[in-house]
Amino acid sequence: MYYNEKTVLLKNGTECTLRNPRESEAETYIAHLRRVAGETHFLARYEEEVVTPPERQAQIIREALECDDRMLLAAWINDKLIGSIGVNRVSPHSKMQHRAQFGISIEQEYWNAGLGTILIEEALAAARNMGCEQMELGVYSDNERARALYRKLGFEKWGAIRNAYRLKDGTYCDEIIMGRRL
Ligand SMILES: CC(C)(COP(=O)(O)OP(=O)(O)OC[C@H]1O[C@@H](n2cnc3c(N)ncnc32)[C@H](O)[C@@H]1OP(=O)(O)O)[C@@H](O)C(=O)NCCC(=O)NCCS
Repeated sequence: MYYNEKTVLLKNGTECTLRNPRESEAETYIAHLRRVAGETHFLARYEEEVVTPPERQAQIIREALECDDRMLLAAWINDKLIGSIGVNRVSPHSKMQHRAQFGISIEQEYWNAGLGTILIEEALAAARNMGCEQMELGVYSDNERARALYRKLGFEKWGAIRNAYRLKDGTYCDEIIMGRRL
């Protein structure tokens, strides 16, 4: 899904550009995901597991642009990729066509500047454009910042998967399923 480029202001007054990533930026996009995965355990993959080949990432970027039921959106400050959100329909099957989901990653230096709120609002708008009726997500039970943000944006706890994530130190985290109607 094509996103009309937009400039937004973060809480500290910094200008931030929102636009689709380009195929030629596949390596930049992977490097961003790898950085965030190294800063927190809150993403699905550990840093060393973010090994998507650039050609595959370029294909993902292209398909997201061409496809009406997903969107990749990236946030840039002075041409540096600092955050991203991916939203897609949960399934093309008719029984699940009304459901959308998203994943978000922002580099630590830019946390608490309001970007998460902005990106999720754009994802909610995109999901409405897809004709979806509800947005869903999964979040680590110990991700207080993310859970507070989702609650602020109207998401409620819809369920949980016990011990969904096993960390390197041997501890387990539950996955909290949250959702809201669109
Ligand atoms: C979670 C994440 C997307 C939030 O983005 P962000 O840009 O920091 O979010 P915002 O600044 O818009 O909002 C954060 C809110 O949480 C609040 N907050 C921050 N830390 C908090 C904490 N420990 N407990 C409760 N609330 C907290 C902030 O005050 C803010 O609320 P406000 O807008 O009412 O002031 C971002 O931190 C991130 O990408 N983290 C790493 C990856 C990740 O966790 N992804 C989510 C996977 S489900």
